Amino acid sequence: MKKKKSTKSNTMWGGRFEDKPSDIMEQINASIGVDQRLWRQDIRGSIAHCQMLAKQKVLSKKDSEAIIRGLEQIAEEIESGRFVFKTELEDIHMNIESRLKEMIGEPAGKLHTARSRNDQVATDFRLWVRDAIDEITHLIEDLQGTLDDLRDKHANDPMPGFTHLQAAQPVTLGMHLSAYSCMLNRDKLRFLDCRNRMNESPLGSAALAGTPYPIDRNFTAETLGFDQPTASTMDGVSARDFAAEFLFCCAQAGVHLSRLAEEIILWSTTQFGFVRLSDSWSTGSSIMPQKKNPDAAELIRGKTGRLNGNLINLLTVQKALPLAYNKDLQEDKEPVFDSFDTLSLGLQAMRGMLETATFDTERMLEAAEDGYTTATRLADWLVMELGIAFRDAHHITGTIVKMAEKKGCKLHDLALADMQAVEKGITDDIFRVLRVKTR
Ligand code: ARG
Repeated sequence: MKKKKSTKSNTMWGGRFEDKPSDIMEQINASIGVDQRLWRQDIRGSIAHCQMLAKQKVLSKKDSEAIIRGLEQIAEEIESGRFVFKTELEDIHMNIESRLKEMIGEPAGKLHTARSRNDQVATDFRLWVRDAIDEITHLIEDLQGTLDDLRDKHANDPMPGFTHLQAAQPVTLGMHLSAYSCMLNRDKLRFLDCRNRMNESPLGSAALAGTPYPIDRNFTAETLGFDQPTASTMDGVSARDFAAEFLFCCAQAGVHLSRLAEEIILWSTTQFGFVRLSDSWSTGSSIMPQKKNPDAAELIRGKTGRLNGNLINLLTVQKALPLAYNKDLQEDKEPVFDSFDTLSLGLQAMRGMLETATFDTERMLEAAEDGYTTATRLADWLVMELGIAFRDAHHITGTIVKMAEKKGCKLHDLALADMQAVEKGITDDIFRVLRVKTR
């Protein structure tokens, strides 16, 4: 291991230090590789903070204008890829501030008045998660739109409905897909709930105890689109339940996608043959030329592992943390960024796959007719038309199903006379319910 460097200490906080951090210390401490994704939010937060300091006469108009102009220029540099992120400057906050110093000189050092990186990062992160929720809810709505179109298109296309993955009763493909649209709708509402609860501004909490400057927390909260400042400064800098809640929302939505993915995987097998995926949404095998694999669906199912893991990750990071800020909290961003990326990709892949898939409605109808799926309808007919008690109707139906099983035919292929031998009240009308669909 290399010995610690003996060059100058850190310019941002190194006043009482004689030595620089050792290489490994620098590595474990730096978060710039991850938190550079917060740059937009960091600049937005800094501009709001600076405007507030100027309004409160903590900063002069001249200094604040120079700072804001500098920050806007930095935004352009980052946007265009010209900005150089440096590990020795640890994180996004110090990378930006240090560049500001290079650009505008001494006034840059005044931006951090009445602020700590603790309330700065808590603010940035809330802004980021809020933007992420807005993007994800749109992607959910897009997928819902696709599912709802398919629901309408296949409103009258029968398929077997399953319980225990055994053919149970006939349903329509429309009914089946509509169930997923309902799940996604709850997912969306869950994200919006999360957004509502988290929409408070930690800015002004400073390190943990607030600050003696005459700041205006309501101003920064409003400027940044928050409903209000957090009530407690100590909670403001250390709360990450909003991020954990976001991760739960992602995990639950991912689990819903995974259930749908599982059905697509089953349905695309030769055994089911309910759906054919388009070439652009499947892959081939390098050894078996006949294969067409539902990889996107499998990956959506497989990525549930990351989504669930990320939630446990952040819950565990928070566990047993004393108030207020602890560096452990720097570990909060990676799982959140990863879940956002993973779920966004999954929602888009699911949509693309469904939009280009072809459902074999003939095959689904045939399957709906297999497995005596209309037996419950037969029992209900006996109750409704003949006034037979349901338990007795169930028994009679069982006898008729056994008869069809012995003959190796479908229920609607039985002769009326054979059914009448079991229950004499049965009439011709029975075929109306025995057939899944009159062709
Ligand atoms: N990079 C840090 C984080 O993400 C910023 C806050 C650092 N605060 C501190 N007291 N060292 O949490």
